[in-house]
Formats: sequence, structure tokens, C-alpha cells
Amino acid sequence: MSGSGLDLSYIRDSTNFSSLIWMGYAGQAGGLAVATAIFGQYNPGGRLPITFYPASYVDAVSMFDMQMRPSKTNPGRTYKFFTGQAVYEFGTGLSYTEFAYSWGNDSSISSYKLRTLMRNTNDKRHVLVTRFRVNVTNTGSLAGDDVVLAFLEPPRTSIIDPTPPIKQLFGFQRVHLNVNESKEVYFSLYADSLLSIGHNGFKWLQPRLYKIIIGTKVMHTIKLQGTGALWSELGR
Ligand SMILES: *[C@@H]1O[C@H](CO)[C@@H](O)[C@H](O)[C@H]1NC(C)=O
Ligand SMILES: *[C@@H]1O[C@H](CO)[C@@H](O)[C@H](O)[C@H]1NC(C)=O
Ligand SMILES: *[C@@H]1O[C@H](CO)[C@@H](O)[C@H](O)[C@H]1NC(C)=O
Repeated sequence: MSGSGLDLSYIRDSTNFSSLIWMGYAGQAGGLAVATAIFGQYNPGGRLPITFYPASYVDAVSMFDMQMRPSKTNPGRTYKFFTGQAVYEFGTGLSYTEFAYSWGNDSSISSYKLRTLMRNTNDKRHVLVTRFRVNVTNTGSLAGDDVVLAFLEPPRTSIIDPTPPIKQLFGFQRVHLNVNESKEVYFSLYADSLLSIGHNGFKWLQPRLYKIIIGTKVMHTIKLQGTGALWSELGR
């Protein structure tokens, strides 16, 4: 139980422990909640909403440096920018059952013209690029919840942004599945997830390839075609 991340690598690396339950400040029902999970009355299906850094992190960055992005004097913050090895990554979670994902769409790559996306001037934050379908199956031996995480991985190099995010969450869905049951979940990808942010804060849409990662597996590639352009939130 802790208010934030701790370096728990001594538990992770010990052969004396096979799993670890972490809870935040749980309140008066917390003890009962954790007991029902330990004794198997409840199958937990949560995901770590933060990054657990190694203890050496405090020496790697000055407490006066609040930059998110990595630099010579900062290893970066959060799953989007931390270039070191996390003790527990954002999105880590255990269950008493297992889940398998399969890609519900036919293709492994899809292309979109920047010109077509830019033409939509109503509310630029909500320009739908496409929707993805993922088939989730409970392949274990207990009913349980899974939280399916959908990430976008931009290219590592960008002329606009020298330190682009390593990956970026663009959707998540919780599903409850009985043993052997499958359900489809949908993820909408909006154009704002595809923007590159320049050092001056301006947002650009560039012709690039983005990987779509479901959980930890690359499932699809998005290709943006055309000439890169400044993305104005004011409409045009
Ligand atoms: C994926 O499938 C959904 C539902 O059938 C469809 O609306 C969407 O356009 C497809 N997306 C891609 C990238 O093929
Ligand atoms: C989902 O995956 C399961 C297990 O592979 C399969 O039996 C089922 O037909 C799939 N459902 C859809 C809608 O593709
Ligand atoms: C789940 O599927 C497996 C493999 O097909 C089968 O052996 C098992 O009996 C099924 N379990 C349930 C509860 O349907």
C-alpha cells in the first residue's frame, strides 16, 4: 500500500514471491477488498496507472527539473518518455485467468491522406481517423475482467519533435469474460493522437507510419500520406 510508485524490484526479483498486490490509499473497505482478492473470491483485473521507477531515478534527475521529455540531464517521465527500465510499467496487471487478443480487422496496414483529415474543420480534436476491432478471449480457467490497452507508437525520429513519445495510450476498454468467452472491443483513433508537437508547442500532422499496439503486441500500421501541415485547433 503506498501513495505512489516505489522501487519494488527486491520483491519482483525474489524467488520467494510469485506475485504482488499493490493498492493505493484504499479507505476502510480496502482490507476486505484485498482479502477477497488474495483468497480467490474476487479475480482482480486492474492495471497500474503509473510508472514504478527504480530507486536510482531520484539521482538521475534534479528535483527542480519538471520536464517530461528526456534530455542529457533527465531520463524522461512517465511511460511516454521514460528511457530507463521501469520496475513496473504503466499498464502492468495480473489476473487469475489469461486473455488472448486477436485483430478483428482484415488488414495489417491502412493508409489515410493528410489532405482528407485536414479538410475536416469542425472540431479538430475529434476527427475520427478509423476504428479498430479487437477480439478478446478468456483462455484461462476462471471468469474475470480484462482491461485492454490500445497504444500508438510514433516513429522514433521526427523533424518537428526530437523526443517523440515512446508510445501513447489512445484507448482502453474493460471487458468481463467467462471461461472461453470472446467479446469484441472497439477503439476509435482520432487525429489528435497522431499529432507531432514542436518545441514551440505547435502541432503538426506529418506523413509517417504509426504502429498500433494492443496490450504489448503490434497489430496494425497506420500510414499517413501527403504533405505535412500545421494543425490549427481554431478551425482553419
Ligand atoms: C475495422 O473494422 C471496423 C468495424 O468493421 C471498421 O469500421 C473500420 O473501418 C476497420 N478499420 C480498419 C483500419 O480496417
Ligand atoms: C474471437 O476469437 C475466438 C478464439 O480464437 C474465436 O473462437 C471467435 O470466433 C472470434 N470471434 C470473432 C467475432 O472473430
Ligand atoms: C474451455 O475450452 C477448453 C478447450 O476447448 C475445454 O477443454 C474446456 O472444457 C472449456 N471450458 C469451459 C468452462 O467451457
